[in-house]
Amino acid sequence: MAVVPYKEQQGSKKEQVAEMFNNISHKYDFLNHFLSLGIDILWRKKAIRLLKADKPKQILDIATGTGDFAIEALALNPDRVVGVDISAGMLEVGKQKMKKKGYDNIIDMQLGDSEKLLFEDNTFDAVIVAFGVRNFENLKKGLADMHRVLKPGGKTVIIEFSKPKRFPMKQLYNFYFKSILPIIGRIVSKDQAAYTYLPESVGAFPDGQKFLDILGEVGYKETQCKPLTFGISSIYIGQK
Ligand SMILES: C[S@@+](CC[C@H](N)C(=O)[O-])C[C@H]1O[C@@H](n2cnc3c(N)ncnc32)[C@H](O)[C@@H]1O
Repeated sequence: MAVVPYKEQQGSKKEQVAEMFNNISHKYDFLNHFLSLGIDILWRKKAIRLLKADKPKQILDIATGTGDFAIEALALNPDRVVGVDISAGMLEVGKQKMKKKGYDNIIDMQLGDSEKLLFEDNTFDAVIVAFGVRNFENLKKGLADMHRVLKPGGKTVIIEFSKPKRFPMKQLYNFYFKSILPIIGRIVSKDQAAYTYLPESVGAFPDGQKFLDILGEVGYKETQCKPLTFGISSIYIGQK
């Protein structure tokens, strides 16, 4: 059974995930940085540095949300960054941010589903995703469609939460993620489920080698996993 945010409701995982991110969109950036003590910003920067040598010009940011990973990708000096997301609410907050920062001429934010991308095959030099793949309804389908729109030789760089395996980080992480974070998240976002769904969806996500195996199954080569900060998150890389 898929982990969904609103267990008592009927909608598909995709519908529920879009609804949840619509609900929390105005508090998302604040909570992200507050709950991670700003470490999420460093993780995105590190992931983008892994693409530096490739000099990608056309970049697709999947599950772009409010666009923070797309903004980090500007460090690569691309011609264009396209951000796609299924949540109109997150995109609206992102679009306002781009306008304010003067990035709206280079970062194009569009409504779009990772499992049905509206781009030709072999369009992008790099496809990036931060904290998105765990929310896909059909993980393999999403990763395969990302592979389809990548140019041959192009890379995908994915950041996702993972589960620390060693004492004492494993215990500390579980305590923080399951007991502290849902309470703060609920009070600030006013959404009853979003920050309970977060640890549950991380728990159900096939991290580490399992995720590398899936990347390999859908066609990526030269796959690598780089754990971040005691394994709280990981960067995954694959090439077409
Ligand atoms: C945790 S947010 C991450 C946002 C951003 N990448 C960041 O680093 O802050 C996850 C985003 O994934 C989006 N999402 C989930 N499933 C998706 C799908 N199938 N296609 C596109 N976006 C999706 C959600 O709407 C949400 O905005």
